[in-house]
Amino acid sequence: MTSSGIQLIDRAEAAVRLPEFDSLLRLALTAQARARAPYSRFNVGAAVLGGSGVAYPGCNVESASYGATICAERSAVVGAVSAGESAIRACVVVTPTAEPSSPCGICRQLLREFGADMIVFAASSVSDSVYACRLADLLPLSFGPGNLEEAGVSLEAGKE
Ligand code: THU
Repeated sequence: MTSSGIQLIDRAEAAVRLPEFDSLLRLALTAQARARAPYSRFNVGAAVLGGSGVAYPGCNVESASYGATICAERSAVVGAVSAGESAIRACVVVTPTAEPSSPCGICRQLLREFGADMIVFAASSVSDSVYACRLADLLPLSFGPGNLEEAGVSLEAGKE
């Protein structure tokens, strides 16, 4: 089932929509194999495309203190920002479910920081299926930096 703006496509169609899709997917699949998921056994890989055009991988890293676990998408974002990126144009996440699993709520909110227009592909590592959408489709009426700006918060305040 898809809601408006979210489409179920295949890898070939995803590559038509985003030329970098294949390289992002490769990076995400490699990261998925490196996931540390001894508790859930649910390996997730991700890759984000930075504003510079460089791609960054991420995987889920679980903790014995379960709440300390970080998801693949957020670990990719952390890698991109740590490398100096300030923009993220696209995110590919890959899960071991025939119907691709989409990013969790916390990851949607962190991705939102980089723009509701971001392209998100949720791919499967065991089928050709890919969900394609914009972040705004996954998080309608989202809260973002603009809300703080509107209330007079200076977003430059925390920067050097
Ligand atoms: N997980 C992700 O890495 N990304 C998501 O968007 C959903 C869930 C991870 C967290 C945990 O390690 C495992 O999948 C099971 O929830």
